[in-house]
Amino acid sequence: MKRVMLTDGIGPEAVAVFEDFDDIEAVSTDTLPTGELLERIGDFEAIIVRSPTTITAEVISRAKKLRYIGRAGVGVDNIDIAAATESGIVVMNSPGGNTVSTAEHTIAVMLAVARRVPHAHASVVSGQWDRKTYRGVELFGKTLGVLGLGRVGREVARRMLAFGMRVIATDPYVSATDADAMGVKLVSFDLLLRESDWVTVHVPLGSDTRGMIGAAEIAVMRDKVVLINCARGGVIDEEALADALESGKVAAVGLDVYASEPPGSHRLFRHPRSVFTPHLGAATGEAQLRVATDVAAAVARALSTGELTDPVNPEAMR
Ligand code: MLT
Repeated sequence: MKRVMLTDGIGPEAVAVFEDFDDIEAVSTDTLPTGELLERIGDFEAIIVRSPTTITAEVISRAKKLRYIGRAGVGVDNIDIAAATESGIVVMNSPGGNTVSTAEHTIAVMLAVARRVPHAHASVVSGQWDRKTYRGVELFGKTLGVLGLGRVGREVARRMLAFGMRVIATDPYVSATDADAMGVKLVSFDLLLRESDWVTVHVPLGSDTRGMIGAAEIAVMRDKVVLINCARGGVIDEEALADALESGKVAAVGLDVYASEPPGSHRLFRHPRSVFTPHLGAATGEAQLRVATDVAAAVARALSTGELTDPVNPEAMR
């Protein structure tokens, strides 16, 4: 019997995927303390995690039977991919299941910043009726710079074109022809920084994207630019961003992700026009269900037939 651990409270629908496989036993757990994960991982051929569980090189070194790691979500920055590859363990994620939710949350944050919705709401429920302080701005006619025209970036772009924004984007993996077909103008990173009224980040966190927007990049942006990040913390340098908010160079930010999560207190949070949410991009019932069942099906298939779906490190098989 092969065993797969579904951790981080992954729901019964994903566990049920394994019922069709007589030779696979699915074990569901809440997020395990590191010590317990280290003790138990040696009994499993596969593990499926959301973001709370970190699969470190130490976990992998104890995982003597492990062949597959499934990530119910997109980002694999909580998994030591190099260590997994070295041990011949294939990592599979669920690249499409939460795309729409994340795009919709990005737009929710943009609108909340533009129209100061959280601030106005707090004012009304505290008994005030202030129709002057919360005056907003329109998105219509503004230039939106999309940093990363992947799955989420392009869904945001499509929707914001419908709002009447001019959308420009930078992405080394997308051709100008593909971008044109979407109604998006592909530009250099430098031009995107210089021309955007709003910039929204849709790149994964990696060595090439960490700190991609820092003091130097902010300096060349338009005055009163608005920055949105619902992708990964660490892509925008938070200290440089706080400085730019304090100086007024950046008008506001909308952040769903942070360099360290949870971020604790940060001087960013003192800024009165900005909006902050606790990594909720993919937090809808629909997306959570989809990513969990998609990756469960991928892991079940891999365990029973060896067929790989969306492997992040296919080279682990070689
Ligand atoms: C993802 O990478 O899928 C989202 O950021 C949500 C999550 O971290 O689980």
